[in-house]
Amino acid sequence: MAKKAIAIDGPSGAGKSTTARMLARELGYKYIDTGAMYRAVALAGLREGLDFDNEEELAGKLTALAEEIEINFSSPDRKGRVEIFLDGENVTEEIRKLKVDQLVSRVASIAGVREVMLTKQRELARNQPVVMDGRDIGTRVLPDADLKIFLTASLKIRARRRLRDHHAQGDKITLEEVEERLRKRDTRDRERAHSPLRRAADAFEINTDEKEPEQVVREIRDLFREVV
Ligand code: DC
Repeated sequence: MAKKAIAIDGPSGAGKSTTARMLARELGYKYIDTGAMYRAVALAGLREGLDFDNEEELAGKLTALAEEIEINFSSPDRKGRVEIFLDGENVTEEIRKLKVDQLVSRVASIAGVREVMLTKQRELARNQPVVMDGRDIGTRVLPDADLKIFLTASLKIRARRRLRDHHAQGDKITLEEVEERLRKRDTRDRERAHSPLRRAADAFEINTDEKEPEQVVREIRDLFREVV
């Protein structure tokens, strides 16, 4: 029998990872952060010294690299946090750096890279019950998920949340810069040819502007109870 799966999609800063992590902890499911997987591929490309300006070569090289590398997640700690490993090395912090931020949506727009990630993500969901978050989980990766959620929030609020993350990382950046980057990344994620960000027809949309994470988790848990 298929394992239980909850798909959470939405733009950057809508609250996906906080919500998904808390929910996974409550349900005892594994949390899979698919954005972190694309970030790990971007980091691997940076470390290989790939030329990110050479669009033609980049696609082939990054796809081959995505096949070669091993990406693993740790089990959640007491706070539900998970760590991500690239070929055995803990890269949880490094994948959040600005350098990766700037490249990742380009990496995620490469069809070959997406195919490789799709296989890995489906495999993860086959082996265990999961809460998986990303952009195309409900539409493509897990179209048969038991529950699909589409989280949204206004650009201003999303930028404020992301700014907090950047400052916690020690990155020097202003609110305006974060907003501009988010806007660009959103456009790229929504308009790309392969698996663009969009709400699945059967996804429940929740706007998180005025809500604490606990409330969002409660709403999703209630919906989950109704569907399973
Ligand atoms: O959620 P995040 O900011 O860590 O995502 C990083 C990038 O990867 C972002 O540009 C969207 C992209 N992404 C994607 O295309 N598909 C996913 N399932 C997850 C993330």
